[in-house]
Amino acid sequence: MDYNFTTIIEPFRIHSVEPLRMTTSAQRASAIDEAGYNLFNLRAEDVLIDLLTDSGTGAMSRDQWAAIQHGDESYAGSPSWFRFEAAVKELFPFRHVIPTHQGRAAEKILFSVLGGEGKIVPNNTHFDTTRANVEASGAEARDLVIEEGHDAATLHPFKGNMDLDALENLLATRRADVPVVMMTITNNSGGGQPVSLANLRGVSEICRRYNVPFFLDACRFAENAWFIHEREEGQGNREIPDIVREIASLADGMTMSAKKDPFGNIGGWLAMNDDALAEAARNLLILTEGFPTYGGLAGRDLEALAQGLSEAVHPDYLRYRIRSTAYLGDALTRAGVPVVRPIGGHAVYIDAKALLPHLDPLTYPGQSLCVALYLAGGIRSVEIGSVMFGRHPDGTESPAAMELVRLAIPRRTYTQSHIDYVIEVVSAVAKDASSLPGYAMTYEPAALRHFTARFKPLG
Ligand code: F0G
Repeated sequence: MDYNFTTIIEPFRIHSVEPLRMTTSAQRASAIDEAGYNLFNLRAEDVLIDLLTDSGTGAMSRDQWAAIQHGDESYAGSPSWFRFEAAVKELFPFRHVIPTHQGRAAEKILFSVLGGEGKIVPNNTHFDTTRANVEASGAEARDLVIEEGHDAATLHPFKGNMDLDALENLLATRRADVPVVMMTITNNSGGGQPVSLANLRGVSEICRRYNVPFFLDACRFAENAWFIHEREEGQGNREIPDIVREIASLADGMTMSAKKDPFGNIGGWLAMNDDALAEAARNLLILTEGFPTYGGLAGRDLEALAQGLSEAVHPDYLRYRIRSTAYLGDALTRAGVPVVRPIGGHAVYIDAKALLPHLDPLTYPGQSLCVALYLAGGIRSVEIGSVMFGRHPDGTESPAAMELVRLAIPRRTYTQSHIDYVIEVVSAVAKDASSLPGYAMTYEPAALRHFTARFKPLG
């Protein structure tokens, strides 16, 4: 008898464990006060379930730890570099692969070469460091996600898609000012939403017609490829690596944070086909990151990433990964908590504007919810709203398009009972949402303010 079981289990068992430290609500109240009500300022040991980010926080596999033992720390031409380069090119066959210590280092180099005053860089939605690196070069970062991508509740299978008409219009009028078109897969700031292959083909076609380079910000490429496999007509029978290679073939290069899908605790790269651009990038790399066969990484890191890349595209893993994120999102939806839907790949995004309608966006409803989740249950989340995106290069402040609280799920790290606890905490806090206070900033740094700002509760 061939049974058809439907429970999707973790396709691994646990080999090494880390303790979690329980705290009392009095300890949490004191810790968050000391942290200036900014969860980035907490000591990680004071956090019970850490959903701040899925970046660098995943569990490495037995085979990654074994690969680390093969790390060769030769300054130049290490075998670990050649294994890493081959693993990257297996999925992303760009001519030049330039290793960096993480994604933003790749962004810094790319926009140092291509950005500058008067330039415009379009993207579906820039993530915070991408936007900051574009703006630091003097260029404008312009988000051109489709209309549905701005609305938390609208259902659309590929809410990360670029608005192709808007891109075409921009290039028709300002081609000379656009040095590169970026596409973030999946669209992190817009709810972890995927981009369809059809849309990537469309962007690629427009870019080729206007002769503009097209680069991927591909941190969560494997999750995006899984959504294409599951949701896009005609893609269900393809192997994931095959879909990834097609995505790469549509682009001229990529920036990458290997701390996400490739299961790295650190790492990234910049890749491209253009020889002159690669030469300019390598010259900058040597100034700040290191020699081109290690970038900012140790040989052992390169080994762990080469192995991680092969695990990231495994269908059993991706099925579990995407389903377990949706498990949290679906449970919160059933509990009446407004979340961005459909559920994204690496995180569930609570719509704080809808949950805390009594708060003005510039009293930071998302921040208020983040603090409340920590106080109630020791959960650390991150605000993706007016704290993160409200301050503009000209010094003005205005509300962000959405006020979101992201519960990012580290890869292979928490079990279903951890997530059941998160569901219980969020549901309880949501019931009392109307009593949560707004916040005012008491300290704000010059750039990327969300990392170090300090707050005080109002009223
Ligand atoms: N691009 C995207 C879409 C990202 O999500 C990130 C990082 C980066 C670039 C930068 O990469 O951290 O390696 O320098 N996102 C993390 C997050 C920090 O929490 O979403 P990095």
